Amino acid sequence: MPIDPRKQLIRDLPKAELHIHIEGSLEPEMMFSLAQRNGVELPYANVEAIREAYQFNCLQDFLDLYYQGMSVLQTRQDFYDLTWAYLQRCREDNVVHTEIFFDPQGHTGRGIEFDTVFEGIWSALQDGEHELGISSRVIMCFLRHLDQDDAFATLEQAGPYLDRITGVGLDSSEVGHPPSKFFAVFEQAGQMGLKRVAHAGEEGPPEYIYEAVDGLQVDRIDHGNRALEDHLLVQRLAELKLPLTVCPQSNLRLAVVPDMKAHPIRTMLAAGLKVTVNSDDPAYFGGYMNDNFNALVDATDLSADEIIKLVRNSFKASFLDKHAKLAHLKTVQAILGH
Ligand code: HPA
Ligand code: ZN
Repeated sequence: MPIDPRKQLIRDLPKAELHIHIEGSLEPEMMFSLAQRNGVELPYANVEAIREAYQFNCLQDFLDLYYQGMSVLQTRQDFYDLTWAYLQRCREDNVVHTEIFFDPQGHTGRGIEFDTVFEGIWSALQDGEHELGISSRVIMCFLRHLDQDDAFATLEQAGPYLDRITGVGLDSSEVGHPPSKFFAVFEQAGQMGLKRVAHAGEEGPPEYIYEAVDGLQVDRIDHGNRALEDHLLVQRLAELKLPLTVCPQSNLRLAVVPDMKAHPIRTMLAAGLKVTVNSDDPAYFGGYMNDNFNALVDATDLSADEIIKLVRNSFKASFLDKHAKLAHLKTVQAILGH
């Protein structure tokens, strides 16, 4: 059977990824081999058993395994290998720019130095730029289930690396940990010239999205699905052209949507929201960038024009400078033959 032309389009177009937790790209095979390399005990007999454990009813189910999984990451080389493997997937999927999240508190909290984590990730990203031509940015996330003092301490630890960190984010258990808990540390990050993003409206109510916009002063919302419950909020996000980094397979696996057929991406586009497609935690949710697009193609009537819009949005919503954005948009245009 010939390939669906929409899937061919997805393959052909260069794309930017704006919502990827690098620790969430830890494939079971690498988890297993790093566990052996570092003498870490995993509660699984083999790789298949790890995959079988990936059945989630909600965000917290996933997070429990995500934090357990990252325990195998111990040395600078481990963080390098993790990031390098992700960059190979970017190349396969024609992702030419990526803005990755990392969770320093997920590592410093178990005795791994900030420097080990950051330098491992950074050196892989440098090699990715030079050897694969993939540009990148790094966004440091605060874990919202911890308190704000912890986030302030992390921002201080990041001091020597801030010329290489583009922004701060907010992730982990959403419900019960509203953005308002972190207004002060985000304000300080903003004063330091850092970009700001936050997970909001994945499981949390529309109110959390208002808080992220008005209180955290975010440049993008990560997920934001539940904005659709409040038409005034949708209107506001559309007017502000505030990007939403949507993650279809994550949404399905974490039961944010009941079925991929019911995924609201087309509704979001029709409402004028600046949405993008992303993989979130690809090793846990079943796929990388193109898998996420293809899952939408398989389940919905996503059109070629909508795919092009999503791809253009990925560059427009990125933290690249104006010239780089324009260059990528021109390449997209050239591939489309206009
Ligand atoms: N949501 C919140 N926190 C996370 C996620 C997510 O999808 N992935 C990694 N940390
Ligand atoms: Zn996420």
